[in-house]
Amino acid sequence: MKKLRSTALFPTLIFSTRFKDKKLCRELAEECEGFARLDDQGRKWSLVNYPHGYTSYASITDLHLRSSQFEKLGRWIDSQVAIFAQELGYDLKGGRLRMTTFWINIMKPGASHPFHLHPLSTVSGTFYLKTPPGCPAIRFEDPRATQFMARPSILEKGSGLFHTYKPSEGSLVLFESFVRHEVPSYRAGKSTKPRISVSFNYEWVQPDRF
Ligand SMILES: [Fe+2]
Repeated sequence: MKKLRSTALFPTLIFSTRFKDKKLCRELAEECEGFARLDDQGRKWSLVNYPHGYTSYASITDLHLRSSQFEKLGRWIDSQVAIFAQELGYDLKGGRLRMTTFWINIMKPGASHPFHLHPLSTVSGTFYLKTPPGCPAIRFEDPRATQFMARPSILEKGSGLFHTYKPSEGSLVLFESFVRHEVPSYRAGKSTKPRISVSFNYEWVQPDRF
């Protein structure tokens, strides 16, 4: 291979892996639907802010403290976030990354989630419990996108402005919280079944705040 004279700087890492306990995934999906049935406040909020879907983003954001099953999933996610932090090369100065919020997203055909980032958090991510055929992927935007100006497009595969990650049941995706992302519209097609996922944020805590 020809030796390059350039150095690749400032990479954006997107972490993905899989959780092997399918039984727990099924039980967690049922639990999500149970929360949605009981969460009047969250359903009202979603009617206005999350059409064709339900999210507990504004009502139940501590799943790991409410349910032993979610606590189990949260402990596994903690372990994967620790690996991601190592891969990112974070110097946590004796501190650690701690889950702060953990909430449910249920999307039905017609639902979408426009581009956003997660302010004040360090690492964020989503774990997928139900991904019916035809349900949308998550799309990440190159964090440099607003500064590209007169830059031509890049020929190399995977170097576009956006990166699409297609989720499957039991998959986990992690990213630094400043990376903008969206979930395009869930188009009514082969399936009318809900796409169910849980999302979370981690913050960096110093040793004296443990
Ligand atoms: Fe998000």
